[in-house]
Amino acid sequence: MSAEWPHTTVIYQIDPSLFSDRNDDGCGDLAGIVERLDYLRSLGVGALWLLPIFGSPFRDGGYDVDDHRIVAPRFGREDDFRLLIDEANKRGMRVILELVLQHTSEQHPWFEQARQDRTSRYRDYFIWADEPIDDGNQPIFPGVEDSIWQWDEQAGQFYRHLFYRHEPDLNLANPAVVEEIEQIIAHWLHLGVAGFRLDAASHAVEQAGGGNEEHGVWLLERLAAHARSINPDCLLMGEVDVEPARFRHYFGTGNRLQLALDFWLNNHVFLALARARAEPLWRALQHRPAAPDGTGYALWLRNHDELDLERLTEQEREEVMQVFAPQPHMRAYGRGIRRRLAPMLDGDVRHQALAHALLASLPGTPIIRYGEEIGMGDDLLRPERLAVRTPMQWNAERNGGFSRGTPKNFPAPLIDQGPFGYPMLNVAMQQEKPESLLSRCQAIFQMRAVLTEVGSGTAHSLPCEHPAVFAIRHEGEATTIMLANLGRHPAALEQTMIQALQGFEEILADGTYPSPASANTALTLNGFGYRWFRRGGSKQQQHRRAHQRQ
Ligand code: BGC
Repeated sequence: MSAEWPHTTVIYQIDPSLFSDRNDDGCGDLAGIVERLDYLRSLGVGALWLLPIFGSPFRDGGYDVDDHRIVAPRFGREDDFRLLIDEANKRGMRVILELVLQHTSEQHPWFEQARQDRTSRYRDYFIWADEPIDDGNQPIFPGVEDSIWQWDEQAGQFYRHLFYRHEPDLNLANPAVVEEIEQIIAHWLHLGVAGFRLDAASHAVEQAGGGNEEHGVWLLERLAAHARSINPDCLLMGEVDVEPARFRHYFGTGNRLQLALDFWLNNHVFLALARARAEPLWRALQHRPAAPDGTGYALWLRNHDELDLERLTEQEREEVMQVFAPQPHMRAYGRGIRRRLAPMLDGDVRHQALAHALLASLPGTPIIRYGEEIGMGDDLLRPERLAVRTPMQWNAERNGGFSRGTPKNFPAPLIDQGPFGYPMLNVAMQQEKPESLLSRCQAIFQMRAVLTEVGSGTAHSLPCEHPAVFAIRHEGEATTIMLANLGRHPAALEQTMIQALQGFEEILADGTYPSPASANTALTLNGFGYRWFRRGGSKQQQHRRAHQRQ
């Protein structure tokens, strides 16, 4: 039996270098995260997902690992990591790390030895060829890399790299490499982490299967069995950007991944937002295979990469691009949008709150990216995906409260001007203001954190005539009905919806509405409005439970 917690938690994604700098060197660090744990708890967060904290030259945000078992000095020491785990655990929160198993940095000692010496045991840790081989794969970053093969003078051969040329692919068909990964997993589990996000999981599986995904799933089975033998509650959450029919390979019978990051639904959320229509959401949910017992999907609005729209048809993709990234410099790699959510929605707080409420209404585990809860902006002057990677904006004081260090040492410049600049947009200004995005997100995710039926129950569509309204019913120990109006105009709902709500109590809304208790009252939603109702768990109970988490 795999653990239940991944289905009933809210995950918060942190870029450790950009979140909070405690030692004033200009780079965010683990001690900085510790200081912000109470803030995260007040947001209903149950698990922190940290982007890579390992030894790295940091040419790809730390995904270019050169030592998997150390905490990079810029983030602190192992003691700081232990403290983070302890302090998080004390507050009922878990910590999830990245497991970057698809490639290493070219500066990894394995690769350095491999390229120097054909007879080294590390040679076969990577993938070599005398001539580039066409295996059907294209570079992941088109326009930046034009081949997945790089000639290496020292090695006298080409090596394969699906991502950047400074990230040679690990040879996952080599059992010695898999043993190394198992040791890395064991190392971090013994330090108390609750699980891992498997970076580029679909590529890793395909590679482990000699180009065949179905043959490669042994990798997930083996890593899952290993991880669970150390911590039976360990979460493996995979980056699986594939057609929905292929999800089953990643779940197996529950013996592979426990959560799959659902790019399919993510893309359809943006199509639905672009159209202000609920239909794409229903279509996506219908096509999404039911996850086997003990497994499920993880959902988010924006992450640290471009909003990759490859799961949409060409026409749908263009439609979303036209609405949310009308100018070429807002796009990346010919497939995605390099903007944060807030600028895409013109900074409209109600629209953003609706998007978060929608995220929290969908069946799956919600993930919030740092800064989304206050509506942070992007910096399109930065190249590629770096546009969405800027320091957290805590207050209007010096350096936005991110660091007391010198800005020239920051990993990225702060956004300091315009409506998204830290003087105008920050945590401190939004705290205690009930209408702020932060207060709305706190209400949404605190409530979501206690609605276990949304993450682990059964979801049913509720027929609704209004095309902009998404209405869903989640059944578990209690029943929750969630309504979201994707349109900017108010919506009036039909009688059948009012009947469906008999016996339910309103537990969350974007504003004050007349009670729907009487069948004579019209049921309405504001433009970008949302309303949640529950039966079976009293409001007082929910408040008490939410309060207990504080
Ligand atoms: C991560 C990217 C990273 C890439 C290469 C992706 O899965 O999300 O940020 O650049 O892997 O490791």
